[in-house]
Amino acid sequence: MPGNLKVCYFVNSGSEANDVAMLMARAYTGNYDIIALRNAYHGGNMSAMGLTAHSTWKFNVPHSFGVHHAIAADPYRGQWGRNDPDAGRNYAADVKSVIDYATPGQIAAFIAEARPAGERLCQT
Ligand SMILES: Cc1ncc(COP(=O)(O)O)c(C=O)c1O
Repeated sequence: MPGNLKVCYFVNSGSEANDVAMLMARAYTGNYDIIALRNAYHGGNMSAMGLTAHSTWKFNVPHSFGVHHAIAADPYRGQWGRNDPDAGRNYAADVKSVIDYATPGQIAAFIAEARPAGERLCQT
């Protein structure tokens, strides 16, 4: 394993992996708040549903404690398109704004899907 990583923790699902990731990030940093992106799917258990940010997979149960959703960078349908030279800066500014105005200014983690699912980007 790379660097000083010496432990592997096997889990049963992506939801459980994200649950453990949230716990580790909070335990390690001492911070509570987590930034996720809108339109994301991170799982369906209570904690991962909080990271998930699409009405299709969110239900009327308590979830999302300490999770805040910033605008997902989407050059296809996003509010700042691929030809906008300021798009990246604008999306990053929204993340900073969420940190500045929705958290104590310190976060435990930022989570984003490496490849947001195309089918969700097509829903309106
Ligand atoms: C990015 C991402 N995170 C988490 C999950 C949740 O995984 P699981 O269904 O194994 O709980 C999924 C499942 O599709 C996923 O695509």
